[in-house]
Amino acid sequence: MAVDSSSTVSDAAGDDGGAYPFEPGPFGSCPAAYRRRRKDAPVSTIALPSGDEVLLVTRYDDIREVHTNPDFSRNLRYPGAPRMLATADFGEDPNSLINMDPPEHARLRRIVQGAFTPRAAEKWRPQIRAIAEELLDEVIAAGPPADLRTAFAFPLPMEVICRLLGVPPKDSTLFRGWPETLLSLTGGSAAQERLEAGIAFATYVDELVADHRRAAAARPSPRPDLIDELLNARDEDADQLGAAELTNMVRGLIIAGHETTANAFTRGVLALLRHPQQLAALREHPELLAGAVEEVLRAEIPGHGALLRVAKRDVRLPSGGQVRTGQGVLAPFVAANQDPDRFTEPEAFDIARTDNRHLSFGIGPHYCLGANLARVELQVALEVLVTRLPNLRLAVAEEELSWAAGSRVCGLDALPVTW
Ligand code: HEM
Repeated sequence: MAVDSSSTVSDAAGDDGGAYPFEPGPFGSCPAAYRRRRKDAPVSTIALPSGDEVLLVTRYDDIREVHTNPDFSRNLRYPGAPRMLATADFGEDPNSLINMDPPEHARLRRIVQGAFTPRAAEKWRPQIRAIAEELLDEVIAAGPPADLRTAFAFPLPMEVICRLLGVPPKDSTLFRGWPETLLSLTGGSAAQERLEAGIAFATYVDELVADHRRAAAARPSPRPDLIDELLNARDEDADQLGAAELTNMVRGLIIAGHETTANAFTRGVLALLRHPQQLAALREHPELLAGAVEEVLRAEIPGHGALLRVAKRDVRLPSGGQVRTGQGVLAPFVAANQDPDRFTEPEAFDIARTDNRHLSFGIGPHYCLGANLARVELQVALEVLVTRLPNLRLAVAEEELSWAAGSRVCGLDALPVTW
């Protein structure tokens, strides 16, 4: 795609090469390329893994604009549209909430949002606590060291989203690998693996929905789960929720409902272990918990990218950068969270930070549907962890930790801890 060459858009490839994804900073932090570009070239050209060129925006106000201005669209399905990957990608699915524009988007979102209000999320708190306690019982019983990522961070949100949707607990192990495969950004054999994982996952979800339909027909469920509710919404008005939309919604919720939360939590625990005074303060002052979770969200958001938007008409961004009709724009929330014009010392991790209006859950119509639930999960998980394992520390040297590469999600491969 041709890229604007006006003076407001910079070709500032500089020494970062201009190829997305950029090398993360130390401990999976925000790429240095974003910092440099934010200062020298806030709207600049990058090349995506597909080879397509799009604009990268790195300032808070520009990022906000791209995600809230209706002149930017998630419809990237027309011939010649900018693409993240050259091969099949979940961004192309027209039935997925995240790929829709208003008014279709609002129609679908209305059907599901009741399950994710602040009140609905609060109702889950006791169950989330029970799951967290149980998982930690097992960790403690097995004795140190433990990989907190595998033993606690992933199973917790996975169990929660499975219960919420009505996925039988034994099934969660079936699809453990699929979301990670689907979120990868690498080419070669990974493209085929993504395709196969997508088909396997969709087939599983179709069968799951069919099971729910059969069970509801046999005897109405005493406590309907979200799949039951979505089925009702579909049956009451066929126009409301198509079959493919239902499958997509369930699949999307399983992926979005655990992958980000688990990685944010793992990264957040590492950040606290690397700031032992703040960890001690959190243990002694539980009132710091909510702020600590917000700082984990701001500083440890586990993705350096974003889902592309395309300009439906010419737009001038707050920084002065010009986006032309048809241009793709990558506006990563992680870059907004590190903008020094918005956050004092953005690179510092500070659980007592005030005025922490991070964009980690996005902004605009696609604002994270599960934000309230994720907040409760992170608060409970952190509280249970710091209370029950007061001597928690890394079981390996910091430098030995390894980070997942080539994914939309930048997370730790493992978090080995002892206590
Ligand atoms: C720490 C955890 C989480 C983070 C950082 C996060 C972040 C995000 C972000 C940034 C977006 C907007 C993407 C965009 O505009 O391009 C989003 C959307 C979404 N998230 Fe989350 N999320 C988290 C947890 C969850 C959970 C637990 C669920 C479900 C239970 C969930 C479900 C969704 C859905 C369905 C969307 C699409 C909303 C729409 O298109 O209207 N997320 N999330």
